[in-house]
Amino acid sequence: MAVVAVVGAQWGDEGKGHIVDILAARAQTVIRYGGGNNAGHTVVNRHGTFKLHMVPAGIFEPATLNIVGNGTVIDPKHFLGELDGLTARGIVVDNLRISDRAHVIMPYHAMQDRFDEALKGDAKIGTTGRGIGPAYADKMARIGIRVADLRDPALFRERLTAVLTIKNRLLTTYYQAEPLDFETIYREYVAYGQRLAPYIADVYPDVQHALESNQSILLEGAQGVLLDIDHGTYPFVTSSQPGIAGASQGAGIAPSEIDHVMGVFKAYATRVGSGPFPSEVDGVAADALRQMGKPWAEVGTTTGRLRRVGWFDAVAARYATRLNGIDRLAITKLDVLDEVAEISICVGYRHNGQLINHPPSQPETYAEVEPVYEVMPGWLSPTQGVRTWADLPANAQAYVNRLAELCGAQVSMVSVGPGHDQIIEVMPVL
Ligand code: IMP
Repeated sequence: MAVVAVVGAQWGDEGKGHIVDILAARAQTVIRYGGGNNAGHTVVNRHGTFKLHMVPAGIFEPATLNIVGNGTVIDPKHFLGELDGLTARGIVVDNLRISDRAHVIMPYHAMQDRFDEALKGDAKIGTTGRGIGPAYADKMARIGIRVADLRDPALFRERLTAVLTIKNRLLTTYYQAEPLDFETIYREYVAYGQRLAPYIADVYPDVQHALESNQSILLEGAQGVLLDIDHGTYPFVTSSQPGIAGASQGAGIAPSEIDHVMGVFKAYATRVGSGPFPSEVDGVAADALRQMGKPWAEVGTTTGRLRRVGWFDAVAARYATRLNGIDRLAITKLDVLDEVAEISICVGYRHNGQLINHPPSQPETYAEVEPVYEVMPGWLSPTQGVRTWADLPANAQAYVNRLAELCGAQVSMVSVGPGHDQIIEVMPVL
């Protein structure tokens, strides 16, 4: 019995869904702790292929309690759509709770997100346009609407009146847009509150019960730690804390209760949106990594945008590992490298002739660093059917071992395809 956090350890899209889906089946409680419907992952299991954005991956196990934690931001319309999609395909969602402390993404948040991006021009972040940044900003500014507020129409009226006064002033004067109609939003969101009511709860007792009864608990991350608001490539980051600190805060679990931090890394690197990416490649190398036309092609689950691709960046990976106390690694999509004859790993950055071994804090400097590569021979044989470490080609083993050595953590899982069974488990955490 253990508490395990699964964190994305690059720029998101590491294949966390696949790992979490396997581990969720062994956990009694799964808690999604941060982000919103900017996240998205594809889960392939015995029920079929699902694209999940907010609902924890344990939803497919009827005996598993699935909690959407206080650290998330929830777009109720989108969330209900996801629930409807699951129930339409026969998945029972009674085992779901939404923390009443989670914040609600309101219509003005998506408007602000898009207006701000347009105003920034070339300096835009490349957000998902889902209103994530403005929703977290309002939480911090103490003008957020929480899920609990939606359940109580009178209280919601009071809260919305206060907030919409501010927002409509902002929309009409600063953004020079039309004001939003109070009654329209009020009615729509009260209706969402009614539909979500069976799932909304103060989850503190559930979480404490899970801890006290020594359950296996999985803390499910979203995005990646290089998108962290503090430690990521600011300002090209998301507005939450995808790492271990966010896991503790966003799930309501003390840091000392967490037994293992599993960092999920793709065997190479991808990034969506703007921002530094020293090991980025284009041309033929990019085509090999992007895998267009395949079900696991590097296209965003949420936005459909083509992902930027590059070699594994061990400098950023070590930084992510150290900052988050990652002690176990899941290396995903190893099979994508099956046909690559020479595989590069970025093992250092050079800046103005000097070698540096961690990401610079300013994106302008970060964008200037030159990657220093180490090259390893590929294995040039298919790995999708491999199920044990011993059956992996020697060069594939050597590559994975080198990544582990550079990160400074032990390998727990390696994925060799999108299927539920396409996992090599080296050292189980749950
Ligand atoms: P936001 O989270 O929509 O504000 O977007 C901020 C940045 O984070 C953009 O570069 C997005 O592309 C990136 N981002 C947000 N969520 C994800 C994710 O789940 N995977 C990959 N990138 C993401």
